[in-house]
Amino acid sequence: MKKKIIILTLFFFSALLFGQKKNEASSDQCFICHESVGSTEADLYKKDIHFSKGISCADCHGGNSQTDDMDKAMSKAAGYKGVPKGNAITQSCIRCHANPAMMKKYGSKIPTNQYANLKNSVHGRLAINGSEMIVQCITCHNAHGIVAVDNPASPVYPTNIPATCGKCHSDPVFMRAYNPALPVDQVQKYRTSVHGIRNAKGDPKPAQCVSCHGSHDILSVKDPRARVYPTNIPSTCSHCHSNAEYMKQYKIPTDQFANYSKSVHGIALLQKHDISAPACNSCHGNHGATPPGIESISEVCGTCHALNAELFSSSPHKKAFDERKLPECTTCHSNHLIITATNKLLGVSQDAVCSKCHKPNDPSKGYMVAKEMKQMIDSLDSSEKNDSALVHEAEQKGMEVGDALFKLRDAHQARLESRTMVHSFNEAKFNETVNKGLKVTTEVKTEAEAAIHEYYFRRIGLGISVLIISFLALLLYLYIRRLERK
Ligand code: HEC
Ligand code: HEC
Ligand code: HEC
Ligand code: HEC
Ligand code: HEC
Ligand code: HEC
Ligand code: HEC
Ligand code: HEC
Ligand code: HEC
Ligand code: HEC
Ligand code: HEC
Repeated sequence: MKKKIIILTLFFFSALLFGQKKNEASSDQCFICHESVGSTEADLYKKDIHFSKGISCADCHGGNSQTDDMDKAMSKAAGYKGVPKGNAITQSCIRCHANPAMMKKYGSKIPTNQYANLKNSVHGRLAINGSEMIVQCITCHNAHGIVAVDNPASPVYPTNIPATCGKCHSDPVFMRAYNPALPVDQVQKYRTSVHGIRNAKGDPKPAQCVSCHGSHDILSVKDPRARVYPTNIPSTCSHCHSNAEYMKQYKIPTDQFANYSKSVHGIALLQKHDISAPACNSCHGNHGATPPGIESISEVCGTCHALNAELFSSSPHKKAFDERKLPECTTCHSNHLIITATNKLLGVSQDAVCSKCHKPNDPSKGYMVAKEMKQMIDSLDSSEKNDSALVHEAEQKGMEVGDALFKLRDAHQARLESRTMVHSFNEAKFNETVNKGLKVTTEVKTEAEAAIHEYYFRRIGLGISVLIISFLALLLYLYIRRLERK
C-alpha cells in the first residue's frame, strides 16, 4: 500500500515536472508552428542554448510569440522584423549580448564585450558593399543551433575554428577584393604544423587561429597591439608553452620562453625592442611547420645570418652533421638559449664547442684545425687590443693619428669577418681573413709606435732648444749688462 502511494506520488511529481518543461517550450507559438511545418530553423533551434534559456524566435525576429495565428504573429504591428540582414543581424544579438542588465535577467555571467571588441577589430571595418561590417556575429556562431562555445558542436570550438576562419581566409576570390597582398594559405599551411595535425585529429589543446590572433578583438598583424606583433609573440606562445600543467601530456620541455628571454635574441627583441631580432615565429613559422627538419635549421637562421649559413653549407660540417642527424647551427649555439659568441667557443679547451667532438686522437684534421684557428683568432684579438691602446696613447699625446684610427677600424672589421669565417671550417680560408687583419694590425702598430716615437723625439728636441735659447738669452743679458756698465 505504502509502496503504491510512493510510486503514485513520484509519478505525479514527474508528470508535473515534465508537463512544466513542455509547457515552457510550447508557449512559443512561433516555434510550435514552425516545427509543425518541418522548418530547419525550428529543428536546429531545439538544441540551441537560447531555446534552453526560454528565448523565443521573436526575441530575434520580433512578432507576437503568443498567438498561433500566423498573420497576427508575423505582423509589422506586432513588431515582426522578418529576416535580419547586414548589421541588423548583429544588432539583434547585441540587444542582449552588449547589455549586462539583459544578460543578468537570464542569470548569465558571461562577458558582454564581444561587440565592443569586434567593432574595433579588423573585421569591424566596412565590407566592400559599404553598408555593413565584414563579419556579423552569425558568421562565426551561426544563427540557429547555437551551442556553448566549449561544446564540440560549436563552430568556434577549437577543432572547428580553422574551417570557420577558412570560409573567408581560404577563399582567394573573396579575400582579393579586400587585400590582394594578403596570403590565403593559412589553413593549408596550418595543417602541416604540429598544431594543425593534432587539431585535425580532434585535440583541442594545440594552438589554432584564435589562440594566436584572438576572437572578437583580432587586429591587423602590423598593429603593435596585435597578439602576433613581433614583441608580443613570445608571450602569446608561452601562454601554453610555459604552462607545465597544460603541456604535461605532451612530454616536451616548457623552458623555451625562459631560455629565449635570456638569449641574445630575446634580450634584443624584448628589452631593446629591436624587431630585427627573431621572435618564436621567425624560426618556427607563422602557420606552417618550420623548421621541418634538422637539415634545414641553417636555412632558418640564414634568413638573417646569411653569410654564416652560406659558409656552413659549403663546409665539411654540412655533410658530416646531416649524416649524423646533428642539428645544424644549434649543435654549437643551442636553439633557445643562444648567447653572444666569443672566442671561447672555438678551440680545444674544455669549454670550447669543438672539443665536444674533436679529441686529440681525432683521425680527421678537426682537432688540429680547431686548435690553430683559436691561436690565430686570439693573436688577431690581442694585436687589435694592443694597437688600440697604442693609438689612443698617441692620440692623448696630441699626435696626428687619423690614418691609424681609420686602419684600426679595418682591423676590427677583419676580426668580425674572421668570427664569421670560422663557419667555413676551412683552415686556409680562415687564415686568409685573419692574416688580412694581422697585416693591418702590423701597419697600425708601426704607425702608432712611430707617432709615439715622434712625440718623445719632439719633446727632447724641444728641451734642447729651450736650453740653447735660455743659454743665448743669458749670454745676451750678460753682454747688455757689460755694455751698460761701460
Ligand atoms: C501558424 C504558423 C506560424 C506561426 C505562428 C509563425 N510562423 Fe513564421 N512562418 C510560417 C510559415 C508557413 C512560413 C513560410 C512562408 C512564408 O515565408 O510566409 C514562415 C516564415 C517565417 C520566416 C521567414 C520569412 C522570410 O521572409 O523568409 C520567419 C523569420 C518567421 N516565419 C518567423 C516567425 C516568428 C518570429 C514567429 C513568431 C512571432 C512566427 N514566425 C510565427 C508559419 C508560422
Ligand atoms: C538568436 C537570434 C535568433 C533566434 C532566436 C531565431 N533566429 Fe531565425 N534568424 C536569425 C538570423 C540572424 C537570421 C538571418 C540568417 C542569415 O542571414 O543567414 C535568421 C533567419 C531565419 C529564417 C530565414 C532563413 C533563410 O534561409 O532565409 C527563418 C525562416 C528563421 N530565421 C526562423 C526562425 C525560427 C522559426 C526561430 C525560432 C524557432 C528562429 N528563427 C529563431 C536569428 C535568430
Ligand atoms: C570572427 C569570428 C567571431 C565573430 C564574428 C564573433 N564571434 Fe563570438 N566567439 C568567437 C570565438 C572563436 C569564441 C570562443 C571563445 C574565445 O576564444 O573568445 C567566441 C565566443 C563568444 C561568446 C562566449 C563568451 C566569450 O566572450 O567568450 C559569446 C557570448 C559570443 N562569442 C558572442 C558573439 C557576439 C554577440 C558576436 C557579434 C557581436 C560575436 N560573438 C562575433 C568568434 C566570433
Ligand atoms: C534575448 C537575449 C539574447 C539574444 C537576442 C541573443 N542571445 Fe545569445 N545568449 C543569450 C543568453 C542568455 C545566453 C546564455 C548565456 C549563459 O549560458 O551564460 C546566450 C548564449 C550565447 C552563446 C553561447 C555562449 C557560451 O556561454 O558559450 C553564443 C555563442 C550566443 N549566445 C550568440 C548569440 C548570437 C550570435 C546572437 C544573435 C544571432 C544571440 N546570441 C542573440 C541571450 C541572447
Ligand atoms: C601559432 C600561432 C598562429 C596560429 C595557430 C595561426 N596564426 Fe595566423 N599568424 C600568426 C603569425 C605569427 C602571423 C604573422 C605576423 C607577421 O607577419 O608579423 C600570422 C598572420 C596571419 C594573417 C595575415 C596574413 C599572413 O598570412 O601573414 C592571417 C590572415 C592569419 N594569420 C590568419 C590565420 C588563420 C585563418 C589561422 C587558422 C587557420 C591562423 N592564422 C593560425 C600566428 C598564428
Ligand atoms: C567573413 C569572412 C571572414 C571570416 C569568417 C574571418 N575573416 Fe579574418 N578577415 C577577413 C577580411 C575581409 C579581412 C580584412 C583584410 C584586409 O582588409 O586587409 C580579414 C582580416 C584578418 C586578419 C588581419 C590580416 C592583416 O591584414 O593583418 C586576421 C589576423 C584575421 N582576419 C584572422 C581571422 C581569424 C582568426 C578568423 C576566424 C576566427 C577570421 N579571420 C575569420 C574576412 C574574414
Ligand atoms: C593554445 C596553446 C598553444 C599556443 C598558444 C601555442 N602552442 Fe605550440 N603547441 C601546443 C601544443 C599542445 C603542442 C603539441 C605538443 C606536441 O605534440 O608535442 C604544440 C606544439 C608546438 C611545436 C612542436 C613541438 C614538437 O613536438 O616538436 C612547436 C614548435 C610549437 N608548438 C611552437 C609554438 C609557437 C612558436 C607558438 C606561438 C607562435 C605556439 N606554439 C603557440 C600548444 C600551443
Ligand atoms: C632562433 C630560432 C628559434 C627561436 C627564436 C625559437 N625557437 Fe623554438 N626551436 C628552435 C629549434 C631549432 C628547435 C629544434 C627544432 C627541431 O629539432 O626540429 C626548437 C624547438 C622548439 C620546440 C620543441 C620542443 C623543444 O624545446 O625542443 C618548441 C615547443 C619551441 N621550440 C617553442 C618555441 C617558443 C615558444 C619560442 C619563443 C619563446 C621559440 N621556440 C623560439 C628554434 C627557435
Ligand atoms: C629574424 C632574424 C634572425 C634569425 C632568424 C636568427 N637570428 Fe641570430 N641574431 C639576430 C640578430 C638581430 C642578432 C643580434 C642581437 C643583438 O642585438 O645582440 C642575432 C645574434 C645572434 C648571435 C650572437 C652574435 C654575436 O655577435 O655574438 C648568434 C650566435 C646567433 N644570432 C645565432 C643564431 C642562430 C643559430 C639562429 C638559428 C637557430 C639564429 N641566430 C636566427 C637575428 C636573427
Ligand atoms: C661547429 C660549431 C658551429 C656551428 C655548427 C655554427 N657555429 Fe656559429 N660560431 C661558432 C663559433 C666557435 C663562433 C665564435 C667565433 C668567435 O667569436 O671567435 C661562432 C660565431 C657565430 C656568430 C657570431 C659571429 C658572426 O658571424 O657575427 C653567429 C651570428 C653565428 N655563429 C651563427 C651561426 C649560424 C647561423 C650557424 C648555422 C648556419 C652557425 N653559427 C653554426 C661555432 C659554430
Ligand atoms: C657535433 C660534433 C662536432 C663539433 C661540435 C665540431 N665538429 Fe668539426 N667535424 C665533425 C665531424 C663529424 C667532422 C667530419 C669528420 C670526418 O669526416 O671524419 C668534422 C670535420 C671538421 C673539419 C674538417 C676536417 C678534415 O679532415 O678536413 C674541421 C676543420 C672541423 N671539423 C673543425 C671544427 C671546429 C673548428 C669546430 C669548433 C668550432 C668543430 N669542428 C666542431 C664534428 C664536429
